[in-house]
Amino acid sequence: MRDNKIRSFFFLTVLMLNGLSATGSIAASGSAQTLHNTNCRSCHKSIMSGDPDAIYVRENRRVNSYAGLQNQVNRCEANIGIDWSQKQINEVIEYLNQQFYKFKK
Ligand code: HEC
Repeated sequence: MRDNKIRSFFFLTVLMLNGLSATGSIAASGSAQTLHNTNCRSCHKSIMSGDPDAIYVRENRRVNSYAGLQNQVNRCEANIGIDWSQKQINEVIEYLNQQFYKFKK
């Protein structure tokens, strides 16, 4: 019993540290990545025949600026009819920029 508690505490700590190292803040990364992977990936995966993240780094990608990224995330989010808050949308924009686009704001 006690062992289990220690183990799950350790596991949580590792999760939190992962979040920290990915974006420098616990709040943004974990949830934005989960939101993205849960709602956005499968469709991009079928468009890109298998590699979902390739849509963000392909040679002829659509998005070429931070403003363009904001537009496209808002557009895709609206298209699929999920009900994210503007805060969640902004976190996913930030997540995609840090992971893939790396635009300077
Ligand atoms: C039902 C399918 C579908 C879903 C679900 C979807 N998208 Fe897309 N997404 C597309 C299509 C189609 C394109 C690109 C169209 C093109 O090539 O012109 C695209 C392109 C993009 C791009 C631009 C890629 C580039 O070329 O630079 C971003 C960013 C993006 N989507 C974000 C999201 C986010 C965030 C979500 C989740 C909220 C999401 N998408 C969910 C269909 C989808």
